[in-house]
Amino acid sequence: MSTPRILAIGKATQDVFLKSDEFSPQMEGKVAYTHLPLGVKMEVEDIVFATGGNASNVAVTFARQGIHSSYMWTLGHDPASETVLHDLDAEGVDTSHVVRREKYRAGYSNILIATDGERTILNNRGVSTGADNIDLNLDAINDVDWVYPTSLALGGIELLRAIVDKAESAGAKVMLNPAGPELADPQKLKALLSSIDVLCVNKEEMQMLVDGETLEELVRHALHYVPVAIVSDGPRGVVASDGKTIVSAGMYEDVPVVDRTGAGDAFASGFLSQWILGKSLREAIVFASANSTSVVTKFGAKEGILHKNTELHDMPLEEKPY
Ligand SMILES: Nc1ncnc2c1ncn2[C@@H]1O[C@H](COP(=O)(O)OP(=O)(O)OP(=O)(O)O)[C@@H](O)[C@H]1O
Ligand SMILES: [Mg+2]
Repeated sequence: MSTPRILAIGKATQDVFLKSDEFSPQMEGKVAYTHLPLGVKMEVEDIVFATGGNASNVAVTFARQGIHSSYMWTLGHDPASETVLHDLDAEGVDTSHVVRREKYRAGYSNILIATDGERTILNNRGVSTGADNIDLNLDAINDVDWVYPTSLALGGIELLRAIVDKAESAGAKVMLNPAGPELADPQKLKALLSSIDVLCVNKEEMQMLVDGETLEELVRHALHYVPVAIVSDGPRGVVASDGKTIVSAGMYEDVPVVDRTGAGDAFASGFLSQWILGKSLREAIVFASANSTSVVTKFGAKEGILHKNTELHDMPLEEKPY
């Protein structure tokens, strides 16, 4: 099999984590610390620079698994855009489809980590392409086997539709792990499902699309629309089916969670990275679980992403015929 090619499309951000002993819920006696005092200088002991944004995170999983991985979005010449591009280049992600213009900026977040692990996020969304005048050349989809659109910002469901239509005419498959902008109107999203090849969402998101109480019910109902459906429920586990077998899995490892940013991305991209390499549903779920579990043990959404040939261990998992 020649190396599969995949294109991730969607926004990117720079995330700067700030840790300080002064971000303490126990400060000032027993009074809960809830506000930053005005007019003081606070010491930050530790700082972690990371980049995020769902599409940029998944592009790194694919690259680390030896898949030809490209990333497409509108970025600017601001420091956050530069950092995102630097990170992706360093990972071997093909960024030649990034459109850079003066008017665009990557997102930027300062994430204040309190001493108890709780966080406060100061978020700037950045500036990226809208739906009315899509400033991306979707012809790039002609050259890939899979496309993974997510977190399309102002492009939202209209841009998602344009991508899905292009993929259909180009003969590329589509993985959908939608983020906020695509979930804003679940009925419009549902209308696109017949063009999706792999759907991976969490329980609450799947309940916006189909009826069902248990993960298994939700997966069974989703299979009326898509050939492969996966529903995750955080540390409570995951159910997946390709219409031939159905896999129910628990937690890969009970790890101390440092930062859960990127768990969903690592899971969905981890699954697809193995699925397109021809691995079984079960193998793809084990890798997805291992990848996301590793990501939550590190600050940032990319640091913990697994590299090729990482040794995996067994996990609680049940597989039965569909
Ligand atoms: N606390 C945890 N410990 C171990 N693994 C975890 C934990 N939380 C999440 N995971 C792993 O990450 C996967 C995806 O998590 P979850 O179901 O919360 O997705 P999500 O809600 O889409 O996440 P996101 O908010 O990142 O989009 C889970 O199936 C599990 O494998
Ligand atoms: Mg998610």
